[in-house]
Amino acid sequence: MPADAPPSTASATMPPLRPVGAFRLLTAFTGEQSDPNRFYSLLAQDSVALIERHAALEGRRVADIGGGAGYFTSAFRDRGAHCLLVEPDADELYSNGAPGRASVIGDGYWLPLADASVDVCFSSNVLEHVKDPAGFIDEMIRITRPGGLVYLSYTIWLSPWGGHETAPFHYLGGHYAARRYARRHGKEPKNLYGQSMFPTGVGPILSLVRRRSDVAVVEARPRYYPRWCKFLVLIPGLRELLTWNLLVILRRQA
Ligand SMILES: C[S@@+](CC[C@H](N)C(=O)[O-])C[C@H]1O[C@@H](n2cnc3c(N)ncnc32)[C@H](O)[C@@H]1O
Repeated sequence: MPADAPPSTASATMPPLRPVGAFRLLTAFTGEQSDPNRFYSLLAQDSVALIERHAALEGRRVADIGGGAGYFTSAFRDRGAHCLLVEPDADELYSNGAPGRASVIGDGYWLPLADASVDVCFSSNVLEHVKDPAGFIDEMIRITRPGGLVYLSYTIWLSPWGGHETAPFHYLGGHYAARRYARRHGKEPKNLYGQSMFPTGVGPILSLVRRRSDVAVVEARPRYYPRWCKFLVLIPGLRELLTWNLLVILRRQA
């Protein structure tokens, strides 16, 4: 097979992985704070199933950028992929015990990987935590081989959970919501507006990736809703309020 050919999605040795389903995902999301293990494990399984609709993972090279505790990396490895976890924060990396093999401290803006060196470059719930999403996406595309996939999923600022633990007061302004949280809890929120959480929307990211000639948009839709809800991302304004979390899958062009 030529190096730049898209892989077949059929796995030689494993049965297809079933997506988790929107209802189970949404239910698990409501318990994200009390039972993060359950939510992130389900989300990881669902994400891997989503990717396998477009590309086989067995034997493929995957980079999980901002992989945190490694839920997604484990799910990729379970499907036979060689997955490298890149995470800038050691506390996050160790938050669920010692990380597995092939985990490195590294920053998504400067990935320690050669051009076109991975089949899938993945990031889940990271984009809203970076100040320069265009630079972050650019770097993900750089390391992805032609024919490979770039997977992005991130929380939309104007959605009900946009302010994370400061929600819904982020609707009154990110700085106000952070100050209010600090007053109530006696400490700053972990996701601090302007430092580790930014107002990332649907429209700006979709226009950014659509303008690029080196990627094609394969999927763009609300992450936790049924597939038929994809029309929501076509409605300017409303999509910022209703999408909640945007999934974008790109295919790297030659
Ligand atoms: C909400 S956590 C998501 C972790 C993991 N992807 C998951 O869903 O379980 C956001 C992660 O983004 C990481 N992050 C923030 N800035 C980053 C950057 N510039 N490059 C890579 N990761 C970054 C954080 O350290 C954190 O682990």
